[in-house]
Amino acid sequence: NYYAVIMAGGVGSRFWPVSTQEFPKQFHDMLGAGESLIQRTFNRINGLVPSENILIATNERYENLVLEQLPKVSKNQLLLEPIMRNTAPCILYAALKIYDQNKDGVMLVAPSDHWINNEAEFIRNIETSFKASSENDILMTLGIQPNSPNTGYGYIQFEEGSNDIKKVKNFTEKPNLETAEKFLASGDYLWNAGIFVWSAKSIIEAFQSHLPEMISLFNESGTYNTENEKSFIKDHYKDAENISIDFGIMERAGNVHVLPVDFGWNDLGTWGSLYNKLEKDAHKNATVGADTIFRDANGNMIKTQNGKKVVIQGLSDFIIVEKEDVLLICPKKDEQDIKQIVSEVRDTF
Ligand code: GDD
Ligand code: MG
Repeated sequence: NYYAVIMAGGVGSRFWPVSTQEFPKQFHDMLGAGESLIQRTFNRINGLVPSENILIATNERYENLVLEQLPKVSKNQLLLEPIMRNTAPCILYAALKIYDQNKDGVMLVAPSDHWINNEAEFIRNIETSFKASSENDILMTLGIQPNSPNTGYGYIQFEEGSNDIKKVKNFTEKPNLETAEKFLASGDYLWNAGIFVWSAKSIIEAFQSHLPEMISLFNESGTYNTENEKSFIKDHYKDAENISIDFGIMERAGNVHVLPVDFGWNDLGTWGSLYNKLEKDAHKNATVGADTIFRDANGNMIKTQNGKKVVIQGLSDFIIVEKEDVLLICPKKDEQDIKQIVSEVRDTF
């Protein structure tokens, strides 16, 4: 009864120039690990969920990339979105498709762009969550011990209790900095890992309560897993509200539960987050693919192609990334600006 949906629809613009609209980060080997992020995600999950039960939700323009990179995935496992509508619509689509196949199906919802250190521990935690959500009408998420007032995450406060799985008192998606600092200081909150487990039935019921219009739009019996599915989605997907599962369901539902986890986790969202995960030399410089000589240089991240030789003299805390005919040189502290830069230079480059 175990299913999974991998969400791979993002564009990853803060990883420009490597990540582009044509070839976003989840299809790149960002970690230099010999496989792309989506391949890594698939293989990690495949230990627990049979490959034919793993669905991939992505934009229709990435269909061929997915099929090439994940040869075990067949076309019926692809949830192709004609347009980006954030995570709630693709999760509902997946839930309806799974429910149509198996009324007792329980599903893992996994982003395609996370770094996870201890994969065995991750699998144990998912198995615990699968068991709990097969037996109970609950919406489960994994909770991470926070270490900074990051405003890009969801924050979770839970009720104390002797069980591993805790009932959630309060789910706050992307609070402002002041609130995030308060949450962090209270010591009472976890970060939402954005990795969810629930039965298809429970999440469909949650949509019925909290996003009823989306249910009316998508709930078309006799369509899923038939030849009509793809054209139905093509025609109707654009009418779905553009909303994340966090704002649309998790903040509103009363049956949210959290499993606190500690497997080493990071949302690979920026060059700095990747730098943090890479091996570094004595001066905290990290290189991917480059043959670099550092002199009087600290805390840099260099990523080049074809083993290019690089000499860095007297430079600290910079990101330098080569991709074909584009070279990015940016102070690490300005990494958030890359998203804006890309939108400005896209037509020129
Ligand atoms: N298929 C599909 N379609 N996937 C999407 C879409 C879409 O329209 N939009 C986003 N995704 C994918 C992204 O590629 C990513 O893998 C995942 O869904 C989560 O989306 P993000 O846009 O990265 O969300 P976030 O990082 O801002 O916030 C979420 O993750 C945090 C942890 O990383 C939330 O769940 C937060 O609460 C959480 O803390
Ligand atoms: Mg993210």
